[in-house]
Amino acid sequence: MKVSGIFLVLVFIGILSCQRPHEQQSEGFKQTEVQDRYRPLFHFTPEKNWINDPNGLVYHNGEYHLFYQYNPFGDTWGHMSWGHAISNNLLDWTHLPVALYEEDSIMIFSGSAVVDKDNTAGLCKGEQCIFAIYTAHDHSRNKLQYQSIAYSSDNGRTWIKYAENPVLNLGMRDFRDPKVFWYVEARKWIMVVSHPLAYMVQFYQSENLVDWELTGEFGGGGDVSKIWECPDLLKVPIEGSDDHKWVLIISSGSQYEGFTGMQYFIGEFDGKVFNTLQTGENPVWLDYGKDFYAAITYNNLPEGHPPVLIGWANNWAYANALPTSPWRGMMSIPRELSLAEVNGELKLIQKPVRSFYEKVSRSELLTFSDHKIEEGDNLLKEVYASAFLLKMEFNDIDAEELGIEVFKDQHEKTIIGYNSKEMKLFIDRTLSGHVDFHQDFASIDYASYKLWDKSLKLEILVDQSIVEVFTGNGSVVISDQVFPNSNLNGMQLFVKGGTANLKNMELYRFK
Ligand code: FRU
Repeated sequence: MKVSGIFLVLVFIGILSCQRPHEQQSEGFKQTEVQDRYRPLFHFTPEKNWINDPNGLVYHNGEYHLFYQYNPFGDTWGHMSWGHAISNNLLDWTHLPVALYEEDSIMIFSGSAVVDKDNTAGLCKGEQCIFAIYTAHDHSRNKLQYQSIAYSSDNGRTWIKYAENPVLNLGMRDFRDPKVFWYVEARKWIMVVSHPLAYMVQFYQSENLVDWELTGEFGGGGDVSKIWECPDLLKVPIEGSDDHKWVLIISSGSQYEGFTGMQYFIGEFDGKVFNTLQTGENPVWLDYGKDFYAAITYNNLPEGHPPVLIGWANNWAYANALPTSPWRGMMSIPRELSLAEVNGELKLIQKPVRSFYEKVSRSELLTFSDHKIEEGDNLLKEVYASAFLLKMEFNDIDAEELGIEVFKDQHEKTIIGYNSKEMKLFIDRTLSGHVDFHQDFASIDYASYKLWDKSLKLEILVDQSIVEVFTGNGSVVISDQVFPNSNLNGMQLFVKGGTANLKNMELYRFK
C-alpha cells in the first residue's frame, strides 16, 4: 500500500484544530449552529427560507445569474417570487435582493431569461436588456397560468414588468414554465412551454419576445407517471466530433413510483418542432436519485462554453419537510453537458462544471493507490470529512458488493456501493441519520449499470447533506440528500463476498 502519510497526518490535525465548517458559516444567522449544520459548502442555498426550481439561468457581462423559485416570507412553498444570486464561477454565489415579487396574488412561477442583444423587443434602447419570461400564476382567483415578461437594463439588479402582460395566454389553468432561447439558425426566439396535465410541451416562435406563434407540439411518450413541468430544449455537442443533437429535458416522474424526477429525449429540432430519435418505449432518466428536479440550462453562454445544467436537489414528495433551517432547499452542483456513445447508444453525459475541479485543487488531498481490499479492512479509519470530492477507481472486482460508507459512526451511515450480482450502483440512505421527518424519505436508490473488465470508476461529491455520484463517464448520476445525526463524519471503504483492487483514490476535502 502506498499511503501518503503526510496527507493523512494533515487530515487528522485538521479534525482536531478546525471548527466544523457550518460553525464558521453560521455567523449572521439567528438560528443556532445546530440547525444550520446541513448547509452545504459548495452547493447553492438561500440565506433563509424556501426555494425550489432554478429559474432564468443566464450569463451576462461576466456574471452567471441564478434566479430561483423563492418564498420571501417562509420556509415552505408559498408567495412564489424570483430570488436572485450571481457568481463568476457557478460555485461561489453572492445573494442579491429578490428580483421579481408576487404582486396582487399573482405569483411568479418558473421561467427563463435571455439577453436581447439586438433589442428585438424595442424596450431597451442603448442597453442590452435581460428579459425574464415567466409564468404568472393567479393564485387567489381562478388559478389561471399565462406567460409574462419583465426586463432589466442594469444587469438584473432591478426589473420592470411589461405593461402589456401577458404575452401568451390560452386562458388555461395548467400552462407553465416557459424556456426561451435564441435560435440563431433562423434568428428568432423559441419558447418551449409545458401543458403539465396533458404530458405535452408546445413550441412557439417570436421575433420580439412579445408576439408568439405556435409551431409544434411534442408529448405522450416516455414517462407519464407524473405531470410534465419545466421543459428545456438545447443543442448538445457530441463528444469527439463537430456534430450535435437536440435534447429535450422534462421534469416528470422517476423510476420510483410516486416520486418526481427527470427524463430526456435526444432528437432533432428544425426551428418549429422537436422529434425524438429514441426508439425505445422506456423513459430515459436524467438522474437515478430522488433529489434532482426542475433542472434547466444556461442561456447566452460564451461561444464554445459547454451547456450547463442546474437542478433543484430535492423531491416534491418530502420537500416541505426537510429538517434544515433557516433555509430549505438547495441546488445541485452545476453540470456540463455533452453527448457520447455508451454501449452503442447515444447518452447524455453530465460532469461537474470545470470550475469545481479548480476549486477542488485548492483543497486538502489524500491519496491511495494499488491496494487490494479484503473484507474487514478499514483503509480510511482515521479519515473524517463532510464536504469532499472522492475519486475512486477499482479493478479486478470479484466482490459481490463494494463501495464506501460516509457520514459514518457506530449507529449510522450512508452507503454508496456497487452490487455485482444485481449490476446496480446504489445509494442506501436507510440508516443515514435523520430519516423519519417524512415516511417517504428512507430509501435505497439505484442505477442499473454493467461493469466492463471488472472495473469501476466513481466520482462522489459529498457536501454536508447532499451526495452526488457520477459513473460511466458521466452517463449515470445518482443524487440524494442525507441528514446525518452524528457529527463524526467517518468513512469506511468496504468489500463483501470477495475482493477488489483499489487502483487509485483521491480524496479532496473542503473546509
Ligand atoms: C416545478 C414547479 C413548476 C412551477 C413551480 C412553482 O417544481 O411546480 O411547474 O412553475 O414549481 O413553484
